[in-house]
Amino acid sequence: MSQASDLAELEEQARAAIAGVVDVQGLQETRARFLGRSGSIKVVLRLLAELPEEQRRELGQAANATKERIEECVRARRAELESARIENALSDHRLDVTLPGWIAPRGHLHPISRVFRDMTSFFAGLGFSIEDGPQIETDWNNFGALNFPEDHPSRDTQDTFFVEGGHVLRTHTSPVQIRAMTGRTPPFRFIAPGRVYRRDSDPTHSPAFHQIEGFMVDERVTFGDLKGVLYAFARHLMGPEVRLRFRAHFFPFTEPSAEMDFSWGDGWLEWGGCGMIHPNVLRNCGIDPDRYQGFAFGMGVDRTAMLRFGIPNLQLLFEGDVRPLEQL
Ligand code: PHE
Repeated sequence: MSQASDLAELEEQARAAIAGVVDVQGLQETRARFLGRSGSIKVVLRLLAELPEEQRRELGQAANATKERIEECVRARRAELESARIENALSDHRLDVTLPGWIAPRGHLHPISRVFRDMTSFFAGLGFSIEDGPQIETDWNNFGALNFPEDHPSRDTQDTFFVEGGHVLRTHTSPVQIRAMTGRTPPFRFIAPGRVYRRDSDPTHSPAFHQIEGFMVDERVTFGDLKGVLYAFARHLMGPEVRLRFRAHFFPFTEPSAEMDFSWGDGWLEWGGCGMIHPNVLRNCGIDPDRYQGFAFGMGVDRTAMLRFGIPNLQLLFEGDVRPLEQL
């Protein structure tokens, strides 16, 4: 019975082809090739018409059984391909929760800003509020109202940057005293952090640098109050062991005046200037010096930041290269 052996061979070929397909589409094509409308099994069945009744039934049953087994084989292969596809999708897109996370880069405040914030919050605790002023200042606020004589050497082009229109880049934060006091009535307790400019530049001096100004005016403010505030401030910044040294000095806007140093190791480092606000300054702001007195101080901030953060060179603070600053 050649048709029966044809069927066996057909089934053999179909199984081999089905085992060899790699995807669902290939499987569909293979199924069509063997079981489809013009597939191999149909060719076998078409021969049935020519056979006698007896053989026709026998071969028909055999053909149907073969067809059913091939269908079963296709179903099994389809299930295999489907689960392999899911398997692959899972392993390709696997989420490894043990991988280190991606840390969003975060900036931080510039060391000068951090020192300013620390200083102003210390003074806030003593009841001082923050005053501000522009970096381009009038000659009156930077010099005149602060009792500088017309021919005072610090007005010289050696020190001062002049701006068109007779203005200057402020050479200190003291003009904020004038801005804060004019048109107001004491008592005052003010702190004024800011950037100032002078014409010198070397490894320890930058043409732009930072100061913090403090001043207090009331009916019975003394040099003792000034020293008390400065000691508290110095201890806050440099620890309880720090000592201060006051050296008699001259500023046009304070009388008496002193320069102060703080102890550092075996020596002293220059910190800033201070004194009792000159009566002329109060008068220039419309305040009666017979009724009110006040103290003022102003000191550099950059050195404090360098000591605190271990910055060896002042320029690193200002060059705008973030690499050294990122390390702080
Ligand atoms: N303005 C002074 C300076 O820049 C410092 C100072 C401020 C001195 C207040 C006395 C009082 O050197």
